[in-house]
Amino acid sequence: MRVLVIGSGGREHALVWKIKRSALVKKIYCAPGNFGISRDAICENIPVNDLQRLLHFAVKEKIDLTIVGPEQPLVDGIVDLFENNGLAIFGPTQRAAQLEGSKVFTKEFLARHRIPSAAYAVFSDYDQARNYAAVARMPLVIKADGLAAGKGVVICHEPAQAMEALSQIMHKRVFGAAGDKVILEEFLQGEEVSILALSDGEHLVYLAPAQDHKRIFDGDQGANTGGMGAYAPTPFLTAEGFERIQSEIMAPTIKAMAGEDRPYRGVLYAGLILTAQGPKVLEYNCRFGDPETQVLLPLAQNDLIETIFAARSGLLHRVQWRNREGATAGVVIASGGYPERYEKEKRIYGLDKALDQETMIFHSGTREVQGNPVTAGGRVLTVTAWAPTLRDAIDSAYRTVGKITFDGAYYRKDIGAKGLRSP
Ligand SMILES: Nc1ncnc2c1ncn2[C@@H]1O[C@H](COP(=O)(O)OP(=O)(O)O)[C@@H](O)[C@H]1O
Ligand SMILES: [Mg+2]
Repeated sequence: MRVLVIGSGGREHALVWKIKRSALVKKIYCAPGNFGISRDAICENIPVNDLQRLLHFAVKEKIDLTIVGPEQPLVDGIVDLFENNGLAIFGPTQRAAQLEGSKVFTKEFLARHRIPSAAYAVFSDYDQARNYAAVARMPLVIKADGLAAGKGVVICHEPAQAMEALSQIMHKRVFGAAGDKVILEEFLQGEEVSILALSDGEHLVYLAPAQDHKRIFDGDQGANTGGMGAYAPTPFLTAEGFERIQSEIMAPTIKAMAGEDRPYRGVLYAGLILTAQGPKVLEYNCRFGDPETQVLLPLAQNDLIETIFAARSGLLHRVQWRNREGATAGVVIASGGYPERYEKEKRIYGLDKALDQETMIFHSGTREVQGNPVTAGGRVLTVTAWAPTLRDAIDSAYRTVGKITFDGAYYRKDIGAKGLRSP
C-alpha cells in the first residue's frame, strides 16, 4: 500500500514512524514533511492548505490512503474533496470537522446534548461582550470562535485583561473572521487530560489517556504554546474516570453527530478538565494531537493502518486497541523566544549520535541545509522515550534531550512531573 501523510510536524513524524511499522505499507509519502521525516518517507513540498495540489499528487502517485495531520485542511474540506474523487482518506468531513472549526458550534452542540462543559455565553457584538465581561466572575475565559493556531484563548484574571482580549479579537480582529464571535466561559479547575479516539462514525477505539503541557515555562507558567511535552498514560485518571469520559462524553458525542447528519469518522480528540463535578469538555480537536501523538503511537501495539481501514469500513467494534505496559514521555525542544518571536536556521547538533533503546526523536520545525539539520520553526524536536515506569521514561527522554544542542534551544524541565506527583 502507498500511504500519504499530510503535515510537517512532530505529530506527522510520529505517524510516519508508526506507519513504517505496518505490514500493509510499502511506500510512505509526506507533504510537505521536514528534515527528520525525509529520512523515513518521500517528502513532496506541497503546503498543507493547497488542497488541489495535494489531490493531484495523490492521484498521480496512486495513493491508497491519506492521513491528515493538521486541522486547517480538514476544516477546509480535504476529506470531502478526496472522497468525491474516489480517494481513500482518514479524517472527518468538513461538516464533522466543525467540532474543531467552530468553538461556538461545539458549545451549542454540547449544550443541546447535555454533554458536560463550562457554562458560557456567545457574543458577536463587541459592546455587549464588553458589558458582560465587565461584571463577569473572574477568572473568565475568552475564546475566539474559529481556528487561531492555538492563540485564540485568553484566561483573564481581571476585567481590564478581558477588555484587552476582546479588543484584540473583536475590534483589532487579530484572528480575522475567526473572531467574529467570541465565547466567554467559566474557568474550570482541575487536571487537564487529552483523550484521543478513532471513530468509524459509530464505534470508538481509545488510545491511552495523555497529558500535554501547554504553557511555556515550568510549573505551568507563562504563555500558552502548541504544547511543550506530553506523557501517557495519565496515572491520575482512574479506570472509573476514564469510563465516565467514554460514556458521558465521547460516545454521546459520536452518537449525536451521527444524529445531526454529521457522522464523525476520524480521530476525535477531547481536551478535558477533571473537575470536582466530573470530567468536562474544554474543546474538541478533529485530528491527532501534537505532542500527544508522539507519546501515544510509541505506546500502541496495534497496526495503525489496519485499524484505520477498520474505521473506514465501520468495523472498529472488532478492533481491540492494545498499549504496551509502562509509559512514554515526550519532551519538546523549542527555539528560544517561542511562542513569541524566535530565530530560525540554527544548526542542530547531536542528532547523529546513536539513539538509546526505546528512544525516538521526532522532528517538528527542522529543515535540511547542505545536508545538515537546521531549525525552521518554534517547536523543533520531540524526544520520546518508553520505559517500564513513567519515572524512567522521563529520565530516559531527558538523557537524550541533553545530547542535542542548537543556539537558543529551550525545553521545560518538568514534563511528566504532574504524573509522578499523582497518588
Ligand atoms: N474553561 C476553561 N477553564 C480553564 N482553563 C481553560 C478553559 N478553557 C480553556 N482553558 C485552557 O486554555 C487552553 C486552550 O484552550 P482550548 O479550548 O483547548 O483552545 P485551543 O486549543 O484552541 O487554544 C486549554 O488547554 C486550557 O489549559
Ligand atoms: Mg486545546
